[in-house]
Amino acid sequence: MTSTLQSEFWRGEFGNAYVDRNAASPEQMQARLVLWAEILSHTISAPPASILEVGANLGVNLRALRQLSSARRFALEPNELAREILVKDGVVVADDVRDGLAQKIEFPDAVAEFSFTSGVLIHIHPDHLEASLREIYRCSSRWIACVEYFSDKPEMIPYRGHDDRLFKRDFGGLWLDTFPDLRIVAYGFAWKRVTGLDNLTWWLFEKC
Ligand SMILES: C[S@@+](CC[C@H](N)C(=O)[O-])C[C@H]1O[C@@H](n2cnc3c(N)ncnc32)[C@H](O)[C@@H]1O
Repeated sequence: MTSTLQSEFWRGEFGNAYVDRNAASPEQMQARLVLWAEILSHTISAPPASILEVGANLGVNLRALRQLSSARRFALEPNELAREILVKDGVVVADDVRDGLAQKIEFPDAVAEFSFTSGVLIHIHPDHLEASLREIYRCSSRWIACVEYFSDKPEMIPYRGHDDRLFKRDFGGLWLDTFPDLRIVAYGFAWKRVTGLDNLTWWLFEKC
């Protein structure tokens, strides 16, 4: 199993404490429902019958998607506690949850019609980003989305007192530069003041 400074952080005590903090509160769920209703509205030409979240944690996105779509849900998540909650709460059935990292995903090619990350690419060291994008791409047959923090130049931001745990950049640009056959379908910004979400930028791509 691949291991990095960043993945050990998420598998260990920090990751467990994050799971405890990251409650699927009514406010959080409402905000995620609005976000995903918007993103999914752009897939109306071919609504996905299956969705993979890479780095799902306890599933605030997949819980919202469960309400908006009957798609089969898959999850990849390195933190064991989070995986247990995903299964215990019926967000994803046990067979459709995998341990692992984006840089090496133990799901077959095109396991889902839609694959995405939310707040995960920002935690992957730049040296492992391209491998991660290639795996996320491989796992989707059609749609790819990412919901991340944006910066127009790559930068490392101290994260809860730690260096080398949070990296911002133009992730949408990186997706397009890495895969010339991706078409940008839609993008947007979840402004904190209005949405309650953390100033997240999202992009939706389709394989052509
Ligand atoms: C900030 S949380 C975001 C959780 C969830 N996607 C959300 O939007 O609420 C980051 C998640 O990514 C997971 N993670 C960290 N590094 C990862 C990697 N290299 N590949 C896949 N998941 C990773 C962490 O365990 C954690 O659950």
